Amino acid sequence: MAEQQKTFSSNLGVILAAVGSAVGLGNIWRFPYILGKYGGGAFLLVYLFFVFFIGMVLMMTEFVIGRRSRHTPIKAFSSLAPGKKGWWLVGLLGIVACFFIISQYFVLSGWTLGYFFDACTGTLASFGQDSGMIANHFSQFTTDAMRPLVFLLVFAVATAVILLGGVQKGIENVSKFLMPFLFVILLVLCVRSLTLPNASAGLHYLFYPDFSKLTGEGILAALGQALFSLSVGMGVMIVYGSYIPANDSLFKTAMWITASDTFIAVLAGVAIFPAVFSCGIDPAGGPGLVFNVLPSVFNSLGPAGSIFSSLFFLLLAVAALTSAISLLETPSAWITELKGVPRVKSVLLVSVVVVVIAVVISLSVGEWSSVLVFGDTIFDFVDKLNSIYLPPICALGTVVFLGWVMPKKDIADELSNKGTLSIGYFKAFLFLARYVAPIALLIVLVFGIINA
Ligand code: PHE
Repeated sequence: MAEQQKTFSSNLGVILAAVGSAVGLGNIWRFPYILGKYGGGAFLLVYLFFVFFIGMVLMMTEFVIGRRSRHTPIKAFSSLAPGKKGWWLVGLLGIVACFFIISQYFVLSGWTLGYFFDACTGTLASFGQDSGMIANHFSQFTTDAMRPLVFLLVFAVATAVILLGGVQKGIENVSKFLMPFLFVILLVLCVRSLTLPNASAGLHYLFYPDFSKLTGEGILAALGQALFSLSVGMGVMIVYGSYIPANDSLFKTAMWITASDTFIAVLAGVAIFPAVFSCGIDPAGGPGLVFNVLPSVFNSLGPAGSIFSSLFFLLLAVAALTSAISLLETPSAWITELKGVPRVKSVLLVSVVVVVIAVVISLSVGEWSSVLVFGDTIFDFVDKLNSIYLPPICALGTVVFLGWVMPKKDIADELSNKGTLSIGYFKAFLFLARYVAPIALLIVLVFGIINA
């Protein structure tokens, strides 16, 4: 009973915890490099459209399902449509997705922690070192058997310890402290980047929409990124939704989260691109943009560069931590509810399983890179599961459930807090949830599979 009654303590708490989930490696590592890959400003415009018209609709959908049922994903689906069998499978898929995503996330987060450590101790790059040596650092670090595992473990323990504090004292309090902290670091980096020579070229690249550079592939990537960045499509926001107090407006809450997440992704672009252009480096650095290119950029700033490198990797690690919290919370809350066991037990159980999968994924980057699953390394295989298959399928199931299975009056009742808020947007919301989002998700899914 006590477990079912738990909620965040205030609307600010909800927003900061959910922004913590949304703002992660997706914003600071992935967003800038795919924006660089697909041509800058034009990608940004398409991304903005998807984030607000599809991503935010999915977030509201998950919030409605979570708060209406006050359950974790699997039970949430079955309790909201009692006569309709099989929908719990969508919840199950979300939980499975969480297990794989958090495992991969732990590996990448471990890298950011390792880079933070190396930046602080001066082993990442010292002034005057060339970019070749820095790229070398990346391959050496990631293919090493032990070091990534150590950092992965430290990161996993930190995440689990925070979760043990519970919804208010753990998740909410940590987010209330870490999110403003993250924002301040990001602002410092933006100021540094914007005051470099030729910074305006980076801003031009980021904000000038040159549609000739935007490909169909770029458009699909923008939608995939919008969903990933808002943490939708795997039940995380169903669980956070179940913690939202009854009198909070779901629309306003989702709007704040979506706007903040997007603002921070754009700020990450402002911190990165002017610096990249200032050093005359190619912005389309791909996944290595952050790990390879940025250290060389900071390095060229002179001896103070290592301070900025340290700050940057601290920023990444903090962003990753609050996202990892939400990813680990989802399966843990599910087990707590399913088995009626105390939080400590479920968090420990999930953490152990996740760390085992994460260790395998980590080793597959180096030592075990010859082990192939359907022709891919384990890392690449899990990456495909996490981007092409699980989240779009789960997101599609979730939005179809809301649009076509749940009674309309239940949705309206939940969005209007039992008729106490006006919901002038309701028709538009339902149209997006019934038609636009499912069609877009289907396209992403089909093209993702074709191109895989
Ligand atoms: N939104 C997070 C990011 O941008 C990742 C994430 C996805 C977190 C799904 C939770 C659930 O990095």
